[in-house]
Amino acid sequence: MWRANSCRPPYFGRRSLAPRSRGYTAIGYTQRFGRPRDLLSRASRPTTFAKTGSFILKFPTFQDVLHAQRRIRPYLAPTPLYSYSALNELIGTHVAVKHENYQPVGAFKVRGGVNLVSQLTDAERQQGLIAASSGNHGQSIAYAARLFGVSARVVVPRAANPGKVAAMQGMGATVIFHGENFDEAKLHCEQLAREHGYRYVHSGDEPLLIAGVATETLEMLSDDPGLDVIIVPIGGGSGAAGAALVAQTINPALRVIGVQAERSPAAYESWRQRRIVTAPNLTIAEGLGTGTGFSLPQAMLCAMLKEFLLVSDEEILQAMVWMIERAHTLAEGAGAAALAAAYRLRGEFSGKRVGIICSGGNSSIAQLKQALAL
Ligand SMILES: Cc1ncc(COP(=O)(O)O)c(C=O)c1O
Repeated sequence: MWRANSCRPPYFGRRSLAPRSRGYTAIGYTQRFGRPRDLLSRASRPTTFAKTGSFILKFPTFQDVLHAQRRIRPYLAPTPLYSYSALNELIGTHVAVKHENYQPVGAFKVRGGVNLVSQLTDAERQQGLIAASSGNHGQSIAYAARLFGVSARVVVPRAANPGKVAAMQGMGATVIFHGENFDEAKLHCEQLAREHGYRYVHSGDEPLLIAGVATETLEMLSDDPGLDVIIVPIGGGSGAAGAALVAQTINPALRVIGVQAERSPAAYESWRQRRIVTAPNLTIAEGLGTGTGFSLPQAMLCAMLKEFLLVSDEEILQAMVWMIERAHTLAEGAGAAALAAAYRLRGEFSGKRVGIICSGGNSSIAQLKQALAL
């Protein structure tokens, strides 16, 4: 595992910003860490920017996360944070599982989709949406598009998880199959967006998506302000960027640990080398599989994430089985990765409260069989 000391990559801009609180209701961590207004003033460090192509993207702020929480609440109930004695025993300490696999689309991404689609301009709504996805980002966009009456297309790799494809179609999205992997589907998606003028929703370079998914960490700290560690799976890095932003604002002592698959290490290598790199993309956990780092989450991770490790596909499959056996819950590969990391690092966690994000439960039958065959 890599632990970062200095964290500022060369492709950042900086600007100072003093966010203000507006109409926010106090939640559970208030007693321990302070009122949201105080947290916001603590968050008034310089904000930064990421460059992507000819665009400059501003980091979402903690205030954006509070706004996102208000926007998504009418549509998405908070997910449970449960502890299981059999998992505690496995890791040797208190473990709290954040059940994003209980979201209506079975994955945390929907928080970002609802936040983003709720904020589209009239022109964007008329253009309609397009996204490239290995499945869960597409489901998130399909779900939110249906909620707000906008059309959606999702480009998926030819061998996409059939359950995720059926769910997107069931929610009214047009699914377009293209390419051998996510990266090929993404290139085709970007070409279609240019040709037809659709509003392209990138799965990471979208401040509103990151602010939306960051609300999962806000909920975790609201339910258990005593967490010492949060482990979050990383594909493009939007979830981990959001987790790091919230942790840094609420409790800078909280350890946020990112985990990606050894067989798809693009985000990890981009973070470690402090530049966007491409890498093989071969993991069975499609949610963790991108072949290149994404500019905005990566810039945020370089600025705020201090610990990142890779786990093998075998460790991920084993963790899926433990989730079934010991927490009686279905996690897809990406959703089990945080448990795999917790098991690897268990020697460091004695006496700590460890939160693991079970980010999704949309396992294909084939993947489940592979795990159970271990
Ligand atoms: C279930 C699941 N977990 C984790 C991830 C990784 O999320 P991110 O791309 O925000 O790093 C994804 C991405 O699609 C996912 O579907």
